[in-house]
Amino acid sequence: MVEHLRMTTDVEREQAISAAGFNTFLLPSRLVYIDLLTDSGTSAMSDRQWAGMMLGDEAYAGSENFYHLETAVRRYYGYAHLIPTHQGRGAEHILSQLCIKPGQIVPGNMYFTTTKVHQELAGGRFVDIIIDEAHDPDNEHPFKGNCDLAKLDRVIKEHGADRIAYLSIAATVNMAGGQPISLSNLREVRERCQRHGIRIFLDATRAVENAYFVKEREPGYAAMTLEEILRETCSYTDGCTMSAKKDSLVNIGGFLAINDDELAEQARNMVVIYEGLHTYGGMAGRDMEAMAVGIEESVQLDHMHARIGQVEYLGHKLIEGGVPVVKPIGGHGIFLNASRFLPHVPREQFQAQALSAALYVDSGVRAMERGAVSAGRDHETGKNVFPSLELVRLTIPRRVYTQAHMDVTAESCVNLYENRKSIVGLKFTHEPKYLRFFQARFAPVEGEQVLRT
Ligand code: F0G
Repeated sequence: MVEHLRMTTDVEREQAISAAGFNTFLLPSRLVYIDLLTDSGTSAMSDRQWAGMMLGDEAYAGSENFYHLETAVRRYYGYAHLIPTHQGRGAEHILSQLCIKPGQIVPGNMYFTTTKVHQELAGGRFVDIIIDEAHDPDNEHPFKGNCDLAKLDRVIKEHGADRIAYLSIAATVNMAGGQPISLSNLREVRERCQRHGIRIFLDATRAVENAYFVKEREPGYAAMTLEEILRETCSYTDGCTMSAKKDSLVNIGGFLAINDDELAEQARNMVVIYEGLHTYGGMAGRDMEAMAVGIEESVQLDHMHARIGQVEYLGHKLIEGGVPVVKPIGGHGIFLNASRFLPHVPREQFQAQALSAALYVDSGVRAMERGAVSAGRDHETGKNVFPSLELVRLTIPRRVYTQAHMDVTAESCVNLYENRKSIVGLKFTHEPKYLRFFQARFAPVEGEQVLRT
């Protein structure tokens, strides 16, 4: 499938971002030239996936496509039970409701927005146990998604193992910049948790990308296939939530996968309330077929090599141009360090939000804020949280854009960096209660526009 890309004028873009409340989520896609908002559901499906769409068995119960998907998940991820959901947050909702009791703690390797909100709505509290290096954009640690075992020990000691709902471990870590966790670290975390009877649930959304980094960087894994590394990753956990819109190359879909029979039974009972019958979970049969094929394609080394290679290509162009980015370059995107980019804008004026709006005005490239707006307010104090990382994410959809699109994006970022003094800060004009970054609106703190002319 190819799609027409429409160029816009500076004036059109200034009007569009203003009408969108300086929030790139509120722009109509027809006014976006290169869409790097997210890699979620935006990848191109293959000929084999489209062929699978024609084989949709839309039976309400027991669709043939469900069994294909179940076979693929068991083979590649290795869990016993598959509970399909409409997307990742559907699985997060069910897992959180079943496994978190009010007042319990959920330690993890950095928060993710939807994951954390479901943990909180179930009465839990997320505690970050990622290594300190993950909070430093310039630190080149090869596995910035690793857990700090001393932090884990402290959490267990302070709260007691029975107040820990489970460990919420992501591979790769989105908010840290798409940074992987090593298998030696995950193994150690597993040993600790087993000693205390604590379960681990994996956010497997980008676990194949994690497997690629393990193969590239971790001693002992170079000769293994991505399929083998993925299976090993999952083997250290009790189940996973999955947004198949990323690694699995589909436009919609997700799942919860679990080893424990009793928990799976409870999850199957919940899925019928919130998602759909346990053999479709909110997806059409054709969507499940495309996902089954996508899972198989996702572990092909040449695919993953091209995918992460393209991300690295853009990352290195930006580094050459002097633009401050999170290092090492992550799996699914480049993360601009907005604090370093805009030191003249105070953090309270949402540097990353301003930078993503300014990038759109400069070139029609759409990126996403990953900083204080995404972090939201503290659940208990109600105050704005200012995370260590104030970033703009240029997220690369899989199998969609060419090197030329990466070049245009790099040119715009470098140009903006050279003219960074012209970018002004933003203030809220509308702030939603949950996941505010999706629908919030802003205004420039001075003048009418985010880019002074
Ligand atoms: N976990 C991670 C690590 C994610 O990146 C996402 C979604 C989810 C869970 C939730 O899955 O969207 O299918 O409900 N991330 C998208 C993004 C929105 O742009 O990074 P979902």
